[in-house]
Amino acid sequence: MQSAAQVDLIKELSLAVGAAHVLVDDDLRAAYEVDWTGRYQGPCNAVVRPNSVEEVAAVIRICALYDVTLVPQAGNTGLVGGSVPRPARPGARSAIVMSLTRLTRLGRVDTAAMQVTAEAGVTLTTWRESAHNAGLDTPVDFAARDTATIGGAIATNAGGSRVLRFGTMRRQVVGIEAVTAKGAIVGSLDGLPKETAGLHWPSLLAGSEGTLAVITAARLRLVPWFQHTATALVAVKSIESGIRLLAALRQSVTSLDAVEVIAPAAMRLVSDHIGQPPPVSSPEAALYVMVDCADHSDPSEQLLDVLSQADGIVDSAITTDAVQRKRLVAFRDRITEAIAAASTEVGVPTFKLDVAVPLDALGDLIKAAQGAADADGCRLVPFGHLAEGNLHLNHIGASHPERLANTVLSAVASLGGTISAEHGIGVAKVPWMSLIRNPAELDAQAAIRAALDPADMLNPGVLHPQVT
Ligand code: MLT
Ligand code: ZN
Repeated sequence: MQSAAQVDLIKELSLAVGAAHVLVDDDLRAAYEVDWTGRYQGPCNAVVRPNSVEEVAAVIRICALYDVTLVPQAGNTGLVGGSVPRPARPGARSAIVMSLTRLTRLGRVDTAAMQVTAEAGVTLTTWRESAHNAGLDTPVDFAARDTATIGGAIATNAGGSRVLRFGTMRRQVVGIEAVTAKGAIVGSLDGLPKETAGLHWPSLLAGSEGTLAVITAARLRLVPWFQHTATALVAVKSIESGIRLLAALRQSVTSLDAVEVIAPAAMRLVSDHIGQPPPVSSPEAALYVMVDCADHSDPSEQLLDVLSQADGIVDSAITTDAVQRKRLVAFRDRITEAIAAASTEVGVPTFKLDVAVPLDALGDLIKAAQGAADADGCRLVPFGHLAEGNLHLNHIGASHPERLANTVLSAVASLGGTISAEHGIGVAKVPWMSLIRNPAELDAQAAIRAALDPADMLNPGVLHPQVT
């Protein structure tokens, strides 16, 4: 039974975006109220689907008027519970999910500036296709590319496999358009590569996880399209040899595009999942390293040169053939999917930690994580981005996720690392923020948030403890 205020709220939202785009029925809201891992969920009053920046502003003003909270959502591929409503709590304000999936306009690629403007709901794949059509490429890529969107990738400062070469999403944003909690449209999509005029909205909003404003569009950097890629999968006998290989690649391979890491447990799981034996294997393998080199001409000679001189390699495969590359890359790209399937089988959502440590601490991190997983009795599946010391620690069948997080994240902090390398803090990691940020830093972050959103309306509970 809806209260009179709720009825009025829905009426006003319907006037703002059209009744067809205000979803109130349980079955229509359901998919927006839970993340794809099934770990995070909460109820909302309605899902609102605006079609323009003006409609986004109107919805925000209405939410402010009715004192409801607002959860921005697009691809809903997040892994830290930041894009779905918080669990119901007595006395808590009700939530509206604002889905940005109708904001899918893409501008013309400016090949001279190497930029394009994309609305928040454009997927990474569509962004890449538009770049390719203009003979260019996108600097960011990760496995959820078909569903993950520009808005979400900026809001979480997403990373992926090409960070080594081009940096995270933050570095790709040359202009931004967003709507603040007051319903004001801020930013610029002019794409000036040089401008020092005070506050830089892209820098402020990248990584703010929907807490400072709702991102509606961005002016994005593009990069050359290197059409020749050589991919190698290498089994190494120790973490140290993997790191020495990374150093050698960085020193001499100018076309280096990605250096990813797959633990044997992840290789076994993905190989079972896709029903194919690992393309390289050895009982001595301590880690698998996947290397991409991309250039305007075949880069395999440089890559082979380094591989032939590296120590500690126990098996390797290299290819430039598109079909074979796809087969090889599947052993990296489909790990997340394999983990999700294994978790479904045991009936417990995967418990994911996304951490990074300095490279010389990677061995200690793996030991600490394995110790914690063994104590919990769960299955640990690590993989990630070697060049950034970034491991995705996936726990299948975890009995005590909180205890696991306490142990592993404390170890990460004491190794000089971070509790979130690329997935964000969301609601999942808020309790551990003090491991990596001191009280003055947390106060400053809260003060910036309070200045822009004094009513704590935008994505409350994300990045900061929930106050209301
Ligand atoms: C990846 O690197 O594939 C993503 O961060 C996804 C994940 O960690 O599951
Ligand atoms: Zn990743």
